[in-house]
Amino acid sequence: MEFVPVWIENAWYVAAWASDIPENTLFARTYLGVPVILYRTADGTLTALEDRCCHRMAPLSKGRLEGDAVRCMYHGLKFAPSGECIDVPGEERIPASFRVRRFPVVEKQNLAWIWMGDADRADPEEIIDWPYLDDPAWPYKGGHLHYNASYQLIIDNILDFSHLPYTHKNTIGTSNYDEERPHLEHPDFGIRIEHTVDDTPLAPMNKAFATFEGNVDRWSFYDFYTRGNVLLGDFGSAPLGAGGHKGSREGALQFRHFTVITPETEKTAHYHFAHPRNFGIGVEGLDDKVIEYIYAAFHEDKDIIEAQQARVDLNPHEPMMAISADKALSHIRRQIERIVVTEQSPPAAAE
Ligand code: FES
Ligand SMILES: [Fe+2]
Repeated sequence: MEFVPVWIENAWYVAAWASDIPENTLFARTYLGVPVILYRTADGTLTALEDRCCHRMAPLSKGRLEGDAVRCMYHGLKFAPSGECIDVPGEERIPASFRVRRFPVVEKQNLAWIWMGDADRADPEEIIDWPYLDDPAWPYKGGHLHYNASYQLIIDNILDFSHLPYTHKNTIGTSNYDEERPHLEHPDFGIRIEHTVDDTPLAPMNKAFATFEGNVDRWSFYDFYTRGNVLLGDFGSAPLGAGGHKGSREGALQFRHFTVITPETEKTAHYHFAHPRNFGIGVEGLDDKVIEYIYAAFHEDKDIIEAQQARVDLNPHEPMMAISADKALSHIRRQIERIVVTEQSPPAAAE
């Protein structure tokens, strides 16, 4: 497997948790190598503009909001939410070419989604709809990590849970989770993974939340959407012999899981996640307790993946050796490459 530092342009990517972008603030982040500012107009609607003034390329994030417009604080050019330049101090005429790029951005289910590709192809109907992101019966607190690693190495990690007994020995790992290979399906959107392990110890993290003791039947079911790098999961552990995921699930420890990875640059990425649960509704401090455990586990991934990135950088052309646990990630790498090649190929000339 060769390391391929490319990404799909035409997709909705998560830009931020919507609550990270308050009113009267310029929120700056880079997506797919492009610096962007996000802000809210007076009616609360999100706007996304390239964070680079068209005059001398100063960052607009160093500028200021004036009503719904942004003024560059280098020489004072002002831009409307459309990206159009609407004021050049000291000049009466403003050429139509004076503008900055505007990106489609949509707020949905507590998240801000951005489209960095061809704006004409952006259809908000295509944004993932996952009920657990805004269902009071499944509370959660959203998380975010910044990675000094390629988004592809992070995808590799989430598509292969055979790392759980090693990377996550003290948190979400289960000792024999690498003995069973998952069942894979290959829908058009990406991949469906069903990983079950019966008669296995409760993962250390789950001991803090389960109302039962002893061994369990554990499952990790998830869909991965290649456009946008979205993982939607159904994770749980049931008391041994209760039927596992196929049982009534009453009394089982259940979580849903959302992970989404947005490339920032070739070798950095944003990682947003949520881990909704259906127990302890309204219990004070439980949202924080769950996310603290998840942060602990995800820092274990981050540590090994960033160290892996450093080794890849030393020998970027060294091939990686595939094992059968790599089937899912290999499938997704090939799918990404196919889409990227199509996006980067010039359209066939009309006959
Ligand atoms: S660089 Fe923005 S006004 Fe000059
Ligand atoms: Fe992990």
